[in-house]
Amino acid sequence: MSYSTLRIERLDKGVVWVEIDNPPANAISDALVDDLDALLSELEADKTARVLILASAHPKTFVAGADLKMMTQNASKYAGQGGAIRDAASRMQRVFDRVAKFPRPVIAAIHGHALGGGCELALACDFRFMSGGTIGLTEVSLGLIPGAGGTQRMTLLLGRAKATELIFFAKRLSKEEAEAIGLITKAVEPERLREEVIAFAESLSERAVFAMGLAKQAMDAAVPLDHGLTVEAENFERTFGTGEPLEGIAAFLQKRPAKFLKDAAAKA
Ligand code: COA
Repeated sequence: MSYSTLRIERLDKGVVWVEIDNPPANAISDALVDDLDALLSELEADKTARVLILASAHPKTFVAGADLKMMTQNASKYAGQGGAIRDAASRMQRVFDRVAKFPRPVIAAIHGHALGGGCELALACDFRFMSGGTIGLTEVSLGLIPGAGGTQRMTLLLGRAKATELIFFAKRLSKEEAEAIGLITKAVEPERLREEVIAFAESLSERAVFAMGLAKQAMDAAVPLDHGLTVEAENFERTFGTGEPLEGIAAFLQKRPAKFLKDAAAKA
């Protein structure tokens, strides 16, 4: 199958290297979500695909998060249609959840910025190798909240205190900072990322990958995410009712700092 936003390379030992290629920003468009969904169906059914690697074809960015330009258009398109923004978040959640539940190991090879939904996609993987850029859940800086599983998976991975700090302050961490707190598996040198990730993937592939998938399913059963994801998608939509995304996203697109306090004072 061919995909408009993904490049697929079949490597030795059942390793599949997938590059996300969605110019100009490598943001998460509807087409990318559809392609990921279709790819997961293809690879789930293909038992020769033993380890999946998610990487990026963009020179500086792994994934820049939700497509803010598309979101701005959709917010006005969806105005008055209760539930439409929640449904869009739920769709992204569902596809990222398929990444998390993929029945063999999945690795993120992060060479550049993994922000917002890019960080959420990386969090849905079993392992994260990072060689450059920054990583973080940046949504609150835009007046939004993570809407594709980030509130759940970051809290599970790092604990409530660290997740609260990172989410509230929309922190963008370097690979060294991310490694120090366990947000990524390993920081590597840029010129060694592909080689190291493929060697790691091959070492997984030589092991019992179907047992790993079943272990993953059992670990997931310890903390079912369904309710948390529902609340996250509902609250993602509720952010639009606060007026904060209007200022936060406009400020980003206009390349200026957001002024949430000024807006609040004007309304008071
Ligand atoms: N959605 C849509 N467009 C995006 C985008 C996104 N998530 N992220 C970046 N872009 C666009 C920028 O608006 C800019 O467009 P322009 O050329 O029309 O001005 C272009 O991509 C390049 O971005 P720029 O910020 O100039 O490049 P950079 O290399 O300095 O920084 C990033 C790259 C990814 C670090 C930076 O763009 C960024 O922080 N993006 C937002 C990340 C984020 O918070 N995502 C969460 C979304 S919920």
